[in-house]
Amino acid sequence: MMQCWSSQQGYAPIAVDHVEGCWIHTSDGRKIFDLRSAHECINLGFNHPKVIAALKSQLDRVAYVTDDFATEPTGLLARKLAALTPGSPNKRVYFAQSGAAAVEAAIKGARLHQYNRMFHDRGLHQADAPSQYPYPYKIISRYKSWHGATSGAASVSGDPRRWFQEPLTVPGVVFAPEANAYRPPFGSGDSMVDENLRYLEYIIENEGGSNKVAAVLVEPVVGSNGIIPAPPRYLEGVRRLCDQWGLLMIVDETMTGMGRTGRLFAIEHSGVEPDILIMGKALGAYCPLTATVFSEKVSRSFDDHLFGHGQSYSGHALGCAGALAALEVLLEDGVLEAVDEKGSYLEERLQNLAAKHPCVGDVRGLGLFYTMELVADPQTRQPLRKSTEKYSPTVIAEVSRFLFEERNIYVPSDKFGVWVVPPLVVTHSEIDWITEAIDEALLRVDQQLGL
Ligand SMILES: Cc1ncc(COP(=O)(O)O)c(C=O)c1O
Repeated sequence: MMQCWSSQQGYAPIAVDHVEGCWIHTSDGRKIFDLRSAHECINLGFNHPKVIAALKSQLDRVAYVTDDFATEPTGLLARKLAALTPGSPNKRVYFAQSGAAAVEAAIKGARLHQYNRMFHDRGLHQADAPSQYPYPYKIISRYKSWHGATSGAASVSGDPRRWFQEPLTVPGVVFAPEANAYRPPFGSGDSMVDENLRYLEYIIENEGGSNKVAAVLVEPVVGSNGIIPAPPRYLEGVRRLCDQWGLLMIVDETMTGMGRTGRLFAIEHSGVEPDILIMGKALGAYCPLTATVFSEKVSRSFDDHLFGHGQSYSGHALGCAGALAALEVLLEDGVLEAVDEKGSYLEERLQNLAAKHPCVGDVRGLGLFYTMELVADPQTRQPLRKSTEKYSPTVIAEVSRFLFEERNIYVPSDKFGVWVVPPLVVTHSEIDWITEAIDEALLRVDQQLGL
C-alpha cells in the first residue's frame, strides 16, 4: 500500500478488527475514538445498522449497472438530492466516486454551460464571439481552499498541495483571498467582508468579467485549510457579484455536507442558492459516492448540448442505496436535529480550554465541525507556520501523538490546529472525555511553546 501525502518509509497501517459508532477496534485490542470521522466520511459513525442493512439488501439485487439503465436507489437518490438542495428541484445530478471527480464535473459543467450560453443560446458562430479564447472559462477560487488531488481539482485549490502539480496546473484559474475573521486579508471588523468583496469584484472585472470568467468556487466553511466559517454576508456578497457579472457560483460541500454543520448543507446557513453544488465524503455512507448537483438554469443548457464528461462506475447503485439509508437516518432519526445542541455543548467546552491555554488563538466552527487554531504568540496571533512551511512539523504533531498514543483518540495532525470533528452521533459524555484529553494535550503545547 502507498499512503496519501506521505513518504512511505516506515508506513505501518494499524490492523483493524471491527468498527462501530465512533470507535475503531484494532486487532491488538485497542479501542480508538475517531475524532476526524474518517476524514469526515462517516457522519453517522461506523457501521450504522440501518445503512449496513440497506447495503446488504441492495447487494442481492444489483450492485452496479451503467447509466443507460436506472436502478431504484440511483433514481431515488438523484431526485431526493435535487429536492433537498437549495433552489428549484428541477436539477440534474451527476454521480462520481471522489470529491475531486465531482469538482472536475463542476468545472467542466460550468465552462460548458458558459460555452452554450455564449454560442448556441445566442445563435452565434464562433467567429462572432469576443476575441481570443472565445467563451468564459476562468474559475476564480480562493487561496485557502482544497478541492481535491486530481489535476483539475488541485489546480483550483489554493492549498500548497497544488504546488505538486505546478507548472502543469490546468490553465484559467485565478485565486482570490479567503474571508477569515481571525486573519482577515483585508480590513477588520465590519469592513472586512465589504473590502474582501470589493477586491473580488476587482479581480472579476480585471480578469475579463462575463466574457472571460465562468464561475466562482467556494467552500462555505473552508475545510482542510483551517475550518473557517464564512463570515456573515460574505456568501451572499459572492452570490450578488456572480449575478451581477453573469458568473456561476459553485459551492463545494464535500466536507461540510450531510449535516456536518447542523444543516443538511452548510450553504443553508446563508440562504444562498448555488448554481452548482458539490457533495461527497459522508454522502456515500461507507461507499465512494459523490455528486455534482446542477441547478435548473445550468441543467437546461445540457438539454440539447453535450455534457462532455463521464467515468466508469458513475451512479453506483450500492453507494446510492447506502446514501439513501444514511439520509433517512440523518433526517428522520433525529441525528441532524441534535447537531446544533451538541455543537454548542462542544463549543462551550472548547472556549473554556481557550480561556485556560494561551496557545489557543481561535476557536471556530459550526455544528460539529470545530477547530482550535494554535498560535506561537496569542498577542500577535503569530501562526505556527507559514503556508510555505506546510510540510515542516509543528507542535500539533505532538498533540496528535499524545491523543493517539496515550488517550486512544485518532485525530491526524494538520498544521494550523486541533481538529474536533466527531461523528454526529457523538454523546455528551464522549464530548466531555475528548475535551478533557485535549486539555491535557494543550498543557504540553503551552509548555513546549514557553507560554
Ligand atoms: C472541500 C473539498 N473538496 C474536495 C475534496 C476532495 O475529495 P476527495 O478526497 O474525495 O477527492 C475534499 C477533500 O478533502 C474537500 O475537503
